[in-house]
Amino acid sequence: MTHDPRIIVAIDRPDASSALALVRHFSPEYCRLKVGKELFTAAGPSIVEQFHSLGFEVFLDLKFHDIPNTVQAACRVASTMGVWMLNVHAAGGRAMMEAAREGVQQGGGASLLIAVTLLTSMNQQALDELGMPGSPMDWVKRWGQLAVTDCGLDGLVCSAREVAGLRSELGQSACLVTPGIRPTEQAGQDDQQRVMTPVQAIAEGSSYLVIGRPITAAANPASTLERIHADLAACP
Ligand code: C5P
Repeated sequence: MTHDPRIIVAIDRPDASSALALVRHFSPEYCRLKVGKELFTAAGPSIVEQFHSLGFEVFLDLKFHDIPNTVQAACRVASTMGVWMLNVHAAGGRAMMEAAREGVQQGGGASLLIAVTLLTSMNQQALDELGMPGSPMDWVKRWGQLAVTDCGLDGLVCSAREVAGLRSELGQSACLVTPGIRPTEQAGQDDQQRVMTPVQAIAEGSSYLVIGRPITAAANPASTLERIHADLAACP
């Protein structure tokens, strides 16, 4: 692909037909597609194949977290499917992330492998309940360094609000993928608590933006995507 669209549209749909009906609005020139647990559980690998055959690159967002041998095998299979990006939980630790990297290599090595650090749904109270000392940002930085610097993963899924802090720890080459994005006119909607606009998130240092409902629930998903794309085209 010569173009490198910075928008990843979350195709959160309960079945293949509604996912394909949604994707008909989009062009691979303007976005990549994210397949998460709901759609993958319903439709399986064939939905990834169908998106590929339409020319889209796919982020397989299954957040693997299991013993190293199991995660390695899952990453090998995902990599063999030719997905552009896949992810694991950093909480699985060094052995699991190194095994994941090995699995991607075994599957062809072309997929980007990123880690989820602390889920953005976890706050200070959740850490305290788990007996984990320190702040959420302490854990994001610690697990981010383990994933990228120590285990050689390509990057992280994180909140746009964490990007600046992570960039100073990890440098410019880490691939930082941020959900929780809302165009200015929609800020404050849905269940995302702390949102940023697309332009703000790129200015903070995000590499790619995951955007779901602001595009997929819009009256005209194609024009909404194109408008965000045009806003970003003006960003360096
Ligand atoms: O509709 P919305 O833009 O909120 O969709 C965001 C997408 O990113 C969803 O697929 C959601 O599962 C995912 N995600 C998230 N927050 C995270 C990680 C992933 O919203 N911390």
